Amino acid sequence: MTDPEALLRIAMDAAGEAGRLLASWRGNERPEVIDTKSSPTDVVTEMDRRSEALITEWIRAVRPGDTVLGEEGGQTLGGYDVDAAGDQAQVRWVVDPLDGTVNYLYGLPDWAVSIAAEVDGTILAGVVEVPRFGETFTAAAGRGAWLHRDGDPKAAIPLHCNSGVALGQALVGTGFGYDSARRRVQGEVVAALLPHVRDIRRGGSAAVDLCSVAAGRMDAFFERGLNYWDYAAGGLIAREAGALVGGLSGRPESTSMTIAAGPELFGPLDAFLTRLDPERDAPRDREPHA
Ligand code: IPD
Ligand code: CA
Ligand code: CA
Repeated sequence: MTDPEALLRIAMDAAGEAGRLLASWRGNERPEVIDTKSSPTDVVTEMDRRSEALITEWIRAVRPGDTVLGEEGGQTLGGYDVDAAGDQAQVRWVVDPLDGTVNYLYGLPDWAVSIAAEVDGTILAGVVEVPRFGETFTAAAGRGAWLHRDGDPKAAIPLHCNSGVALGQALVGTGFGYDSARRRVQGEVVAALLPHVRDIRRGGSAAVDLCSVAAGRMDAFFERGLNYWDYAAGGLIAREAGALVGGLSGRPESTSMTIAAGPELFGPLDAFLTRLDPERDAPRDREPHA
């Protein structure tokens, strides 16, 4: 069973449960930081781990043979008899259990649960659940992108990215990684781009940013150095809403560079960014406080 709509329903159910768990945090204090990853500011809270455990369990309950690639737990294979499972073994679920952890930690609303279903290397279904806005963004390959709002579970609003936007009129989202040497280059790139666009936004959740392009709330988004789970679902949603999604100079989107923009804007933005060589990393010895 690899029907995109069926995979999407599983992803929506799991993301909805995980979103409710994350939104249920009612502590007066911030959720505790229990670990750090790539840098001291790349934090993990107890809630990132609990959300991923819930999602993995949910998927395992309905599709025990599938592979799950989660940000916190890495890749785990299903404990199921693959031969007996038939096509069940082809699906890999790509999970960011909490995208926008820093926003979550500070009580800002832009954070999300992101789940994508990949079959033979192609994303077939994706959901980005944004609990603080009561919004669920979804897409199934070839079947468009949709926004579902809390309180009206049956109504789905079709999503269309903005079209015909010139670079000088574009509202462009971006993000910054956790590594300070990389941030130095990201800062240079944003400084060079800023005078040539309407404005820049840094929302703090790449998954939400990609959905904002899909919904026409931003004209474009780009970020160097995302992980696959940051853009797997949101990339499909943006693409199904009519955006072009790719990397620099005709390359596919990747952990090196992800760009999403309306069809007329993508080329000029790609050309502008390419001239800035945004995939380079600053040498560490240029760090003033290294
Ligand atoms: C981060 C967010 C952020 C982006 C970073 C990501 P996390 O994910 O998507 O917007 O700029 O590159 O790592 O750590 O909150 O899951
Ligand atoms: Ca993330
Ligand atoms: Ca995360």
